[in-house]
Amino acid sequence: MKDRTIEATEGKISVLFVCLGNICRSPLAEGVFRSLVAKAGLQDHFVIRSAGTGGWHVGGPADERMRTTAQRYGVSLDDHGAYQIAEKDLETFEYVLVMDRRNLEDVRALDSAERHSEKIKLFRDFDPEPGDRQVPDPYYGGQEGFDAVYRMVDRTSRALLEHLLEEHRIRVDAT
Ligand code: 4NP
Repeated sequence: MKDRTIEATEGKISVLFVCLGNICRSPLAEGVFRSLVAKAGLQDHFVIRSAGTGGWHVGGPADERMRTTAQRYGVSLDDHGAYQIAEKDLETFEYVLVMDRRNLEDVRALDSAERHSEKIKLFRDFDPEPGDRQVPDPYYGGQEGFDAVYRMVDRTSRALLEHLLEEHRIRVDAT
């Protein structure tokens, strides 16, 4: 099984994207955000991971339809191994960004002492066009659902990166 050990997050901006199965939406958010960070040359500033609230797909690859969709935009999800979120992840990560309200409820339930409420947020809270602030689950639908998810994840990831760079006062030198 893929090694999901998390390197030291000290001094880094750590982001965990969370959905239900960790095979469609959160692996896409991880891949898209990672690719934006790499393009900006900022990979050393970040620890970026994803997780599911459910354990059905643990150790398995990202959904084939999501992989193909991402690949079309130059984002590879081939290195993915699904992971189920655990309570300790709420200690490790500084931002826990969930895809829908069911995820929000499930992750909050893991935080029984309510010590991490501040860091658990809907990912689309950062979307400049937030709609209902959820990324819909494309799993049981058609290709148009995967395309729509790609567009909202891409748009939100760009805004999220800008927000985090501002919050952490990281400057990107224009080249
Ligand atoms: P995801 O989609 O939460 O975006 O990874 C799903 C994938 C699988 C299942 C549900 C949602 N499932 O029930 O197996």
